[in-house]
Amino acid sequence: MRIAIVFSSATGNTAQVAEAIKEACGGHEIVAYGPPPQNVDKAELVFAGSWTDKGSCTAEMREFLQGLHGKRVALFGTAGFGVSQLYFTALAERFKAEVPQGNQVVSTFFCTGKMPQAVRTRYETQLKADPENGKLKTMLQAFDLALTHPDEADLAQAADFAREAMGV
Ligand SMILES: Cc1cc2nc3c(=O)[nH]c(=O)nc-3n(C[C@H](O)[C@H](O)[C@H](O)COP(=O)(O)O)c2cc1C
Repeated sequence: MRIAIVFSSATGNTAQVAEAIKEACGGHEIVAYGPPPQNVDKAELVFAGSWTDKGSCTAEMREFLQGLHGKRVALFGTAGFGVSQLYFTALAERFKAEVPQGNQVVSTFFCTGKMPQAVRTRYETQLKADPENGKLKTMLQAFDLALTHPDEADLAQAADFAREAMGV
């Protein structure tokens, strides 16, 4: 099978997941691998992944997805606030909404991805000014939970997702 793996990754988390997917695709022809835009004309299956920016995929990934025609598409992503499966399900729906009709989304996979330390510093500063702010406390907890992700288990699940999307 001819496979494209196209991904937006600012700090490396989504790239790590893409790498795990690539490894799981061993034996297949990888016709594109890297950030959008990529020429995926020859691909029979397109893995398209992004970090989560303001609750959805990046603008460059949105543009890439909107240019797809007649493809089997497997969507993946990482998210800093990925503490529940419910959140991942909602994200999958938002990513899916960017794929035009005429393509087929065959599978989705999301996992948690650590955030830059500057994000924690900002929350800490805000919490000092507003010590009872429950939302900020929750966000700090989410930050700390994300620190070790993507981990080995996430990457193993990404490989499972890749095999499932390929139908093996
Ligand atoms: C500017 C900015 C906006 C973000 N917005 C969200 C968001 O809306 N929801 C979320 O779950 N994570 C959000 N995150 C966290 C990233 O999606 C997460 O850390 C991701 O794993 C980064 O992936 P990358 O290393 O491939 O860039 C945001 C991070 C940054 C820097």
